[in-house]
Amino acid sequence: MAAINDVADLSNEGDIAVLTLNSPPVNALSAGVREGIHTGIEKAIADDSVKAIVLICDGRTFIAGADITEFGKAPKGPSLFDAQKMIEDAPKPVVAAIHGTALGGGLEVALTCHYRVAVPSARCGLPEVNLGLLPGAGGTQRLPRIVGPEKAVQMVTSGVPMPAKQCAEVGLVDELAGEDSLRADAIAFASKIVAEGRPLKKVRDSNEKVEAARGKPEIFDNIRKAIARKTRGFLAPEYNIQCIEAAVNLPFDEGIKVEQKLFMELMTGPQSAAQRHVFFAERQVWKIPGIAKDIEQIPVKKVGIIGAGTMGGGISMNFVNAGIPVVIVERDQAPLDKGLGVIRKNYERTASKGRITAADVETRMGLLSGDTDMKALADCDLIIEAVFENMDVKQDIFKQLDEICKPGAILATNTSALNIDEIASVTKRPEAVIGLHFFSPANVMRLLEVVRADKTSDAVIATSMAIAKKIGKIAALVGVCPGFVGNRILAQRQREANKLIMEGAMPWDVDRVLFDFGLPMGPFAMSDLAGLDLGWRKETSNPDGVLRDRLVELERRGQKTGKGFYDYDENRTATPSKEVEDIIIEFSEKTQHTRRDVSDDEILERCVYPMINEGFKILEEGKAIRASDIDIVWINGYGWPVYRGGPMFYGQQIGLDKVLAKMQEFEKAHGPEFKPSALLERMVAEGKSYAEMGF
Ligand code: 3HC
Ligand code: NAI
Repeated sequence: MAAINDVADLSNEGDIAVLTLNSPPVNALSAGVREGIHTGIEKAIADDSVKAIVLICDGRTFIAGADITEFGKAPKGPSLFDAQKMIEDAPKPVVAAIHGTALGGGLEVALTCHYRVAVPSARCGLPEVNLGLLPGAGGTQRLPRIVGPEKAVQMVTSGVPMPAKQCAEVGLVDELAGEDSLRADAIAFASKIVAEGRPLKKVRDSNEKVEAARGKPEIFDNIRKAIARKTRGFLAPEYNIQCIEAAVNLPFDEGIKVEQKLFMELMTGPQSAAQRHVFFAERQVWKIPGIAKDIEQIPVKKVGIIGAGTMGGGISMNFVNAGIPVVIVERDQAPLDKGLGVIRKNYERTASKGRITAADVETRMGLLSGDTDMKALADCDLIIEAVFENMDVKQDIFKQLDEICKPGAILATNTSALNIDEIASVTKRPEAVIGLHFFSPANVMRLLEVVRADKTSDAVIATSMAIAKKIGKIAALVGVCPGFVGNRILAQRQREANKLIMEGAMPWDVDRVLFDFGLPMGPFAMSDLAGLDLGWRKETSNPDGVLRDRLVELERRGQKTGKGFYDYDENRTATPSKEVEDIIIEFSEKTQHTRRDVSDDEILERCVYPMINEGFKILEEGKAIRASDIDIVWINGYGWPVYRGGPMFYGQQIGLDKVLAKMQEFEKAHGPEFKPSALLERMVAEGKSYAEMGF
């Protein structure tokens, strides 16, 4: 083998040259990899003994795309276009040999090769849309020329990669190799095409499929309609569609110009910056400073859940779905039967939609058992308590767990607001106690706040993070404080939303501004959905002093009673309520507010800036490890728009100095709840970023 550079080697196998890339972890197209391809192919072309070239990768995958860490930095070495041109214009066939994932720029390189072979487990895709981008190295022009515009537009807007077998069916892969013999099979394939004198197939010249789609705008109208709801606010999906339209309607070189223009626009825009931040944040969040990666974990073979209510049921489903047996313990048979019945219904509903089979329903229910005796938890490795939110009840349960559970078992609570140190204090093993704060519906929501208490051991934390990954959650490690990270930040927004409607805004104004910002719904629409009577009690109700109590007493309990902050028709379509408007005005007068015009900007800033400020306080107190973990919590637990990167990233994007100045202005006008965090003040004074401050 002759080294081309640190990450590329060229060797000859008879008359076939094999260019091998090896740039861990994912062979991303860094400057070195681009140079390796460019020079390696150039050398193989110059070698008269070589008849064909195989491009293959070592390690876990074929090229997984452009090197995202290089984005925004000054370009070095040959461009990706130079490397691709060297391949596509080669006078000898170049064969891409694909294993793992050929993604983004990786697939775009493979698309400039004349042929592609892949192992059956490989997948090929253009996931740039997930980074707020579009394939910027010819992918939007070449892919539809092979798979057709309809399939291509679906691939680039979803970002979902296609399994190799399907790639072979649609011609994206020319031949499937043996799972363990890719190199040898690719060389044999290259020899075969040389022997057969097959042509140098250039995807760019194959116009049949794109021409056939000309004059059929419905292809694009349909996809726009299909993804509208899911992609609201995102720029990249629409830009991807426009590129495929260009592939259909323009010659290749013109199409490439459209792709380049739109790619650069996205690449330099705020959305892609935010989405790239989220890509790395999602990977950072698992890394816990101070805990060794290889720390011995507690094997979790059986899980116990206490409480078969809203949360207990959903939490159980997560483990059962991952094939882990679960025993649910309830106070009585009736709530146990009810809880198990709800779980079964949930699975049956999923099966009726064709997402699992009827046999899956039985397999999953078979992994689930119920009991009314806490002793059933004796052989569990992880026990999660999800009973009523009451300290006495929870402490009583943890005392029992301390007696019953085997040594080494993890004792977790799903409390959303109680102090976990206090819960742990009633046991003789506080190191085993941790918070596992699931979000409702627990079988659907991706977020898990793993709450480290004072004495929680490293092994319990590491195991909790690992088990979260196993059940498909994204977990953020947070500390004990009221509301932990997510709800603590939510409380800021909630407080301001309630104040704003007393000062002059209406609930629908606040909701509209936050919806337009990109959140799934505003706080008042959310209350209507959850039910205004959540936690409401007749004995303590104060209809003359508390707006919510008044609405509940008027039977305005939310969507379920057809009215809450809004009025609802039979399709649950909301319209602003005159009755509510009058009550709000009455309450404003009672609380001595002179109603005024509240601008949309003020609504946004009053709701969102205190959230950012609270994030700083959380960091300052060490209740979250890093700013990007807070972003992960808000994106996955509360629907913060990914294209705004999470509240902490958003704060930095608009300028922390601006956030601070507004907080100071609000503090003067509205009071101490706007007091800026000391960390925010320090960062602005020192002009530093989160990373520079160690967050
Ligand atoms: N650039 C730089 N680093 C990358 C990377 C990339 N394209 N893809 C992955 N990495 C890094 C990750 O950050 C992670 O680093 P860490 O270990 O320091 O945290 C490491 O590689 C391993 O990644 P994962 O933890 O995600 O590993 P998995 O095995 O779970 O997944 C993968 C592998 C499927 C390749 C996944 O990493 C992935 O989806 N990567 C992104 C693929 C992508 O989006 N490609 C398109 C890039 S944009 C582009 O190509 C533009 C072009 O059109 C011009
Ligand atoms: P729920 O009222 O729906 O369910 C609680 C269940 O616990 C009931 O079925 C009850 O019979 C059972 N239970 C009570 N005492 C018990 C005991 N001693 N032994 C066994 N079972 C007992 O309540 P929900 O909503 O499921 O909440 C449970 C916990 O999860 C609470 O701590 C809550 O704060 C927390 N949580 C709730 C969220 C939500 O959105 N509902 C979100 C995140 C956390």
